[in-house]
Amino acid sequence: MSAEKVALGRRLFYDVRLSGNRTQACASCHQQRRAFTDGRANALGSTGESHPRSAMSLANVAYGASLTWIDAGQRSLEDQMLVPLLADHPVEMGLTARGEDALSRIRIEPLYSKLFSEAFPREESPVSLQNVQKAIATFERTILSGRSAYDRLLWSDERDALSPGARRGMALFFSERLACSKCHGGFTFSGPVVWEGGPPQAPAFEDNGLGGRFRAPTLRNVAVTAPYMHDGRFATLGAVIDHYSSGGAPSAGRSAAVRGFAITEGEKAELIAFLESLTDAELLENPRFSDPWNN
Ligand code: HEC
Ligand code: HEC
Repeated sequence: MSAEKVALGRRLFYDVRLSGNRTQACASCHQQRRAFTDGRANALGSTGESHPRSAMSLANVAYGASLTWIDAGQRSLEDQMLVPLLADHPVEMGLTARGEDALSRIRIEPLYSKLFSEAFPREESPVSLQNVQKAIATFERTILSGRSAYDRLLWSDERDALSPGARRGMALFFSERLACSKCHGGFTFSGPVVWEGGPPQAPAFEDNGLGGRFRAPTLRNVAVTAPYMHDGRFATLGAVIDHYSSGGAPSAGRSAAVRGFAITEGEKAELIAFLESLTDAELLENPRFSDPWNN
C-alpha cells in the first residue's frame, strides 16, 4: 500500500477510458452514494448486455475470503477485476484481451505518466495492465466502512446512537429465532473474512431459501443498496424479511438456518431500523472515495 498507488487507483477506478467504448468505469456500477452498488437488479455492461447478477458493494471488500456471489476461486482483487475489464460473457467494460487499447489511451494522458511514476518509482515503463490492477486493488482496499450508528454504539459507547426500537431490532437480528447473524456474521455482516496474518478461511455459500447457493453479502449500508439478492428480486428490506419469515422455497439444499419464523409488524419495523443503523455516512460522503476527475 502507498498513498501514491491509492491516488492512481482512484483515478483509474473512475476512468471511462478503461472501457472499450469509453462509456463505463468501475464506478459506473460501483457508485459511492450507493455503497458502491448501482441500484439495478442486473448490472448493465458498456455495450448494453445485461449481467446475470447484480453489482456488489465494495465496502470492506479487502477482507472477503472469496469475491463475487458465486465463485470460490476468486480470491484476489487484482485478478477479479480482469472479469469486468476483459470478459465478453457478458461484456462489461469490453476491453480487448490484453487491454492494449486502453493502455495506449492512458499513456498519452500527461497526468498518468506522473501518477504511474510516483506509484511505481522503480519501474522504467510503469504503465502496464499489471500495474493498473495493482493500483485499483490498492484503492479498493481503502474502501472501509466502520462508522455507522451501530459502530458508534459498539466502539465509541454512544448510548443513544441507536433508537430503542433499533436496539430491539439488533437483539432480533442476533437471536436464535431469526438467526440472521449465523450467515451475516462478524464485523462485515457477511460470510468468512481473511486478513494478513489471520487464519485461513474457506469461502462459504448458502441457500437462503431462493434455491441456489450464494455468498452471504455484507449487510453494512444495506439500506442504500436496493434492490436485494443476487438478482435484485426484492425491492425493499420489508420484502426481504417477509421472505425469511416464510422460509422461502423448502428445497433439499436450503440451509438449516432458514426455516421461517413468526414476526409481528412492530418487530419487522425494529429489525429494519437496526439494518438502517448499519449505514455509514462517512463511506457514502467521504471525498477520498469520490470521482477525482470532477473534484
Ligand atoms: C457492468 C457493471 C460492472 C462494472 C463496470 C464493474 N463491476 Fe464489479 N461487479 C459487478 C457485478 C455484477 C458483480 C458481481 C459479479 C458476480 O457475482 O459474478 C461485481 C463484483 C465485484 C467485486 C466483488 C465484490 C465482493 O464483495 O465480492 C469486486 C471487487 C468488483 N466487482 C470490482 C470491480 C472493479 C475494480 C471494476 C473496474 C475494473 C468493476 N468491478 C467493474 C458489476 C460491475
Ligand atoms: C443461511 C444463511 C443466511 C441466513 C440465516 C440469513 N441470510 Fe440473508 N443472505 C444469505 C445469502 C446467501 C444471501 C444472498 C442470496 C442471493 O442473492 O440469492 C443473503 C442476502 C440477504 C440480503 C440482501 C443483501 C443484498 O445486498 O442484496 C439481506 C438484506 C439479508 N440477506 C438479510 C438477512 C436477514 C435480515 C436475515 C435474518 C432474518 C438473514 N439475512 C438471514 C444468507 C443468509
